[in-house]
Amino acid sequence: MSQELQDFQTNSSQNTGESVPPFQRSVYISTYGCQMNENDTERMYALMEMAGYAAVASPEQADVIIINSCSVREKPVHKVFSEVGTYRRLKERRPHLKIGVGGCVASLEKERLIEANSLIDFVFGTDQIDLVPSLVDRAFAKKGIVEARFHHREPYQIETLIRNPKVTAFVNITKGCDNFCTFCVVPYTRGREKSRLLREVVEDIQKLVNRGVREVTLLGQNVNSYRSPCGADFADLLQALAEQTDLVRIRYTTSHPKDFNEKLMQIMERYQQKICEYIHLPVQSGSDRILERMNRGYSRKDYIAKIKKIKEYLPQVVLSTDIIVGFPGEDESDFWQTVDLVLEVGFETIFAFKYSPRPFTKAARFDQQIPETIKDERLQRLFQEWEKWAFPFVKQRYQGQYVEVLVEEFDQKRGQWHGRSRQNKNVYFQADKTLTGQLVHVLVEEAFPSVLRGRWMERESKQHGVG
Ligand code: 5AD
Ligand code: SF4
Repeated sequence: MSQELQDFQTNSSQNTGESVPPFQRSVYISTYGCQMNENDTERMYALMEMAGYAAVASPEQADVIIINSCSVREKPVHKVFSEVGTYRRLKERRPHLKIGVGGCVASLEKERLIEANSLIDFVFGTDQIDLVPSLVDRAFAKKGIVEARFHHREPYQIETLIRNPKVTAFVNITKGCDNFCTFCVVPYTRGREKSRLLREVVEDIQKLVNRGVREVTLLGQNVNSYRSPCGADFADLLQALAEQTDLVRIRYTTSHPKDFNEKLMQIMERYQQKICEYIHLPVQSGSDRILERMNRGYSRKDYIAKIKKIKEYLPQVVLSTDIIVGFPGEDESDFWQTVDLVLEVGFETIFAFKYSPRPFTKAARFDQQIPETIKDERLQRLFQEWEKWAFPFVKQRYQGQYVEVLVEEFDQKRGQWHGRSRQNKNVYFQADKTLTGQLVHVLVEEAFPSVLRGRWMERESKQHGVG
């Protein structure tokens, strides 16, 4: 037995007194960023458990710490370094501890991470998740940095790995992106777009359903450009899932306005029992000049026309969006066009961000970068204007109405049941029996843009409602 492994075993038997059996290695993963990163983290936990590691809830208990980083909107390298720095004392106390960095930052800046930080033992990119257990083995077996080789599988085959599936699950259908919006780092971190085979997605999801999942959210950077190697498009995939699985609800994200077509609207209408009428459709800006500079591929007019069409097919639809304020060159008039569009469309939820220059992207090199103070101020004004509209609107729309809720869990902190409405609102209510996984109707008593509180109507049938 190597000295290192002996150290490791001695240390792990000393440190683990909690739920981890002696000599079983443990892993902790810290996650930044989007749902896709959350999914990658769940996959890593599942793979590590298969390799014999126990998942633990805090870094202090772990023999392996992995940071799953994100670089979409933040200054990520600094964040990673500062988190790694907080583990210095842990590593001094337990030298066998291995620290790995994965995700977007590692895809982009492997060399810099390795050079700059001696606490890091292994690095891997977003395409190398499945190699993590073997990387960790290698990290335990040798001194010095362990680096994943570029790993590219064709076609994109990836069975969803979830340790304990709950009522609702996230399933990747595409990875990467070919759009090259000028602000966005994703094409550089996650590479070219690849789609999974329709048949494999359907089988994968039915297996999840057999394990108790009732709702899935299909994930991709731009689900609307999904194209199965068999030729099927995204609308075909939704249709297959609606017809061939026992899912109760189907959701998806993220859509791209230029690729959201009428066929998809028709399928959503036809299978509205299952496909939820909630669409996240990032507009980014309401100004044509800025949309052009962002390389988004649609105009303000195109976007508004598409929304109008969607509302014709799905009158109860709820829309949300992403917005960037302070994109290079954005002036007051561009900004007001964004505010104006937000109010004209009537988004019940908005995710708004200050523009942040990202490595390798075109916009980072654009002139007329906007000062932070102006970005701050615009972001605040945007939220203020939206709130003035959204709070009264949702009160008027939902209070006194019934919503159909798929119950997800009992929320210990609030002491109430939690689920989501078809239109993706978090709904909280009291009930004196276990309702996990059930579809129930809740009479809304209090409504906010993303939260509804109400009363569970056990025996009453739904008389009128919005979803
Ligand atoms: N700066 C600010 N926001 C960004 N987003 C993506 N890149 C940037 C950036 N460089 C936002 C977009 C996107 C969401 C996921 O993150 O609004 O839709
Ligand atoms: Fe980034 Fe644009 Fe692709 Fe979305 S569509 S991931 S914003 S490049």
